[in-house]
Amino acid sequence: MSARAVRKISESELRRQRECAARVREINGGRAAPALAYVETYGCQQNEADSEKLRGMLLDMGYRLTTDGGDADVIVVNTCAIRDHAEKRALGKIGALKRVKTARPECILAVCGCMPQRGAVSETLRRSYGYVDLVFGVHALWRFPELLESALRRSGRVFAVDVDGDGAAIAEGIPSSRAGGVKAWLPIMYGCDNFCAYCVVPYVRGRERSREPGAVLSEARELAASGYRDITLLGQNVNSYGSGGGIGFPELLRRVNGIEGEFIIRFMTSHPKDAGDGLFCAMAECEKAARHIHLPFQAGGDRVLRAMNRGYTGSGYLALVDAARRRMPDIVITSDVIVGFPGERREDFDRTLELVKTARFDALFTFIYSPREGTPAASMDDPVPGPEKQAWFGELLAVQNAISAEKHAAHVGGTMRVLVDGRDNGGGGDGRPVFTARTNGGRLVRVTGGGIGGGDIGRFIDVKITGSTAWSLTGEKKELQ
Ligand code: SAH
Ligand code: SF4
Ligand code: F3S
Repeated sequence: MSARAVRKISESELRRQRECAARVREINGGRAAPALAYVETYGCQQNEADSEKLRGMLLDMGYRLTTDGGDADVIVVNTCAIRDHAEKRALGKIGALKRVKTARPECILAVCGCMPQRGAVSETLRRSYGYVDLVFGVHALWRFPELLESALRRSGRVFAVDVDGDGAAIAEGIPSSRAGGVKAWLPIMYGCDNFCAYCVVPYVRGRERSREPGAVLSEARELAASGYRDITLLGQNVNSYGSGGGIGFPELLRRVNGIEGEFIIRFMTSHPKDAGDGLFCAMAECEKAARHIHLPFQAGGDRVLRAMNRGYTGSGYLALVDAARRRMPDIVITSDVIVGFPGERREDFDRTLELVKTARFDALFTFIYSPREGTPAASMDDPVPGPEKQAWFGELLAVQNAISAEKHAAHVGGTMRVLVDGRDNGGGGDGRPVFTARTNGGRLVRVTGGGIGGGDIGRFIDVKITGSTAWSLTGEKKELQ
């Protein structure tokens, strides 16, 4: 692939944003009570990472963060467009916020993220959601201070949706506010160039562009030094990191691994067409790299994979799974699959079932195909009725749940090292506190036991596994001998 220059937002443009932030801070400083802000996030980890930046910028503008929109002076809904259901949920939330806006007209209601990047949706927001003050797309995230300042000065509704314009730009140095202090998202690239036939991401997130290794490494160093124990490198297809020139993903992984500190490195997502032994070798070599790969297969039949524009076959995918397990026998493999892609027939779906039975994933994220306007799949013939797709979906879920349950049950009685990341608010039912933790492979463990306490959050501890379901493990903290 030829080198493509990635435009960086210039220092003077970023300075202008900091000046806007300072003016908003001044407005907030003059209030009797502290100004409050609330951010609600839908969608993937990329959106979570964007919300952390929104929170970082809000803190910088003098807001305090709240966990509920009811009393906030600024409410931001960061939306996802991946499936119809995701859009409906976000629109439902925006609809419900009309009540808040009517009761307190001075509060600012903002909608951002992937949904406004779709022309039709941003038109709907303009026409039918007149009470939304500010609408901006993913490419305008770094301009949030300027946009919020305009909204505060009440010069009318503010729209900043740039469907393709700045799609190839990268803004560095935006403040980020990460919750919890244990886990951190670290975007290494943005956008996607793969154009899988069903997927809206390349249209809403723009062209693929990688951050410079130096920028990624210095952020990773800061995170490790601040005590983050679980760092996830994010991109829609991390395996094509640096494809515009520069180091590739395996080398980036090695360099992050070289950073001092006790932390786990995770990454997602890997596209099978660009994954291979180079990646598995690097993972096996790097002691901080989690023994986990999320490798979406989407469909088992070659006819469907071709129509999806995925660039691999079912047997090619299984060969990859074998190669990963040869290098790392204990690797946890998870995947995504779509049921009911246009034109998928029962015999194609049977290939998906076979692949799932052969690969024996530790966990599988299953989706029913949802047409996305403007993608090639949306205009393909789709004769299979919804209830039939739903029945296939149920069949697939039953097969996978049995596999996940078996794989989890095999750990009962053993000891696993886990990173404790929070308190489980549900509790154990017997009054004892329950904490949540993740194994190196990313499995959820609910931990009880006399010895565990709040001081364990952010620590690696050994846990005796006492029970399991298809979705999680339970365990007790092992006391020091
Ligand atoms: N970049 C990642 C995934 C991003 S979207 C990758 O390539 O793996 C997360 C998952 O949503 C996808 O893996 C796919 O399984 C699912 N998905 C994407 N578009 C969809 C659609 N139109 N209908 C149903 N599921 C979809
Ligand atoms: Fe969508 Fe495919 Fe890109 Fe993933 S790789 S974001 S599924 S187009
Ligand atoms: Fe959704 Fe946008 Fe992520 S569409 S899945 S939030 S990239």
